[in-house]
Amino acid sequence: MRVRMKVDGVLYEDEVEPRTLLTHHLRDGLGRVGTPIGCDTSNCGACTVLVDGESVKSCSVLTVQADGAEITTIQGLADTVGDGAWHPVQKAFQEHHGLQCGYCTPGMVLATVDLLKANPSPSEQEVRHGLEGNLCRCTGYQNIVKAVLSAAAEIRGEGPIAGSFQDPAADETAEAQTAGASS
Ligand code: FES
Ligand code: FES
Repeated sequence: MRVRMKVDGVLYEDEVEPRTLLTHHLRDGLGRVGTPIGCDTSNCGACTVLVDGESVKSCSVLTVQADGAEITTIQGLADTVGDGAWHPVQKAFQEHHGLQCGYCTPGMVLATVDLLKANPSPSEQEVRHGLEGNLCRCTGYQNIVKAVLSAAAEIRGEGPIAGSFQDPAADETAEAQTAGASS
């Protein structure tokens, strides 16, 4: 079947098999290998892209279902802000060390872009709830949440949240010390 879609600002027209998953078309057909495959069963969120601005697990969509759509992958996200700069969400993930191996990061970043569009001032709980479809095996999520809250503040025009990497273990120690001091 013939499909037409704009991916990272470039218009593509291709012949695909009806069973081809969008994630495979993006990676194998269009070279968007920055979109990882973590599970292929719609569980992990690593393959998340923006389809017409909404975050979608690309392994859960057939390519033909995205016919006519505008898609943004991690490889084109920075271009949506222009002037060669990273997107504020990308910057915040770097500044707050919201990644370790980086496998979940493209999906986390794109899911965050959609989350902040729907809710520009999320609470910490709303961030955790909003990203529950994206799994991370490395970070413990603490710094991902900090990165998202910082990106939200930056996008609202309040500037990023100060402070960069904080060791979650140090946070836990501080909490334990506070609890100990007050008991
Ligand atoms: S690869 Fe798509 S959700 Fe895991
Ligand atoms: S940084 Fe390794 S899976 Fe999230």
